[in-house]
Amino acid sequence: MKNTVSTFKKAKENKEKLTMLTAYDYSTARLFDEAGINSILVGDSLGNVILGYEDTLSVTMEDMIHHSAAVARGAKNALVVCDMPFMSYQASVYDAVTNAGRLMKEGRANAVKLEGGEEVCPQIKAITECGIPVVAHLGLTPQSINAFGGYKVQGRDLEAAKKLIDDAVAVEKAGAFALVLECVPTEIATKITEKLTIPTIGIGAGNGCDGQVLVYQDMLGMFSDYTPKFVKQYANVGTIIKDAVTDYINEVNSGAFPDETRSYKASDDVLEKLY
Ligand code: KIV
Repeated sequence: MKNTVSTFKKAKENKEKLTMLTAYDYSTARLFDEAGINSILVGDSLGNVILGYEDTLSVTMEDMIHHSAAVARGAKNALVVCDMPFMSYQASVYDAVTNAGRLMKEGRANAVKLEGGEEVCPQIKAITECGIPVVAHLGLTPQSINAFGGYKVQGRDLEAAKKLIDDAVAVEKAGAFALVLECVPTEIATKITEKLTIPTIGIGAGNGCDGQVLVYQDMLGMFSDYTPKFVKQYANVGTIIKDAVTDYINEVNSGAFPDETRSYKASDDVLEKLY
């Protein structure tokens, strides 16, 4: 059954956990969908893990649309959430609505995600009023990396914790149907989770959230540039891929691949008549 915003609402009411992973292409989306994931996030983390940028700032609307459409074709049941890239919504409500519309229309997403608190509430309100579901994102919001001065846990001191809680309440009031909390102390994320009627999805925010999200290359051991403390590696697919590629190289070089079982044979009749 297709996961929808109602699935998220019911999960919160019934205290059932929600699962989300990032994906950026059709075949990965299909695998995650078949495994039964509730939601796939086409994260702007694709800037890091797919395009090899050092941060998410260079990711464009075209990048997001391209990858979202591929994921949407592979996700039969998972709710597809597509990130709004840097500067596609911050400057004006008009930009936000227009670009959210493109992610739905061209990227075939089921919802959009944007970063920020009170300052983006007019955008969240306007987008939801167009019938586009919005996921908010607070804590360590990577599009503000230059303002933060690095990838640091957020909401550690009293003032910052209070601001996080106020922002969480504000984005819910503005119409967000879920909230991603990234790199926030467990106790603060749990407090926010208890305070809100919409589900919280944590990443580096402890076990008190209503759901969890991870970047799939991190949880499958496919990205070695850096690994945050909160990542659990469920498989070492990176090593499996490297070993398989090494075997392939060796077999091609030795002539062991392809063997007869993986080759096509011409008929003797044709061969006899060939000059
Ligand atoms: O872009 C992304 O992958 C994200 C997750 C880290 C939540 O926003």
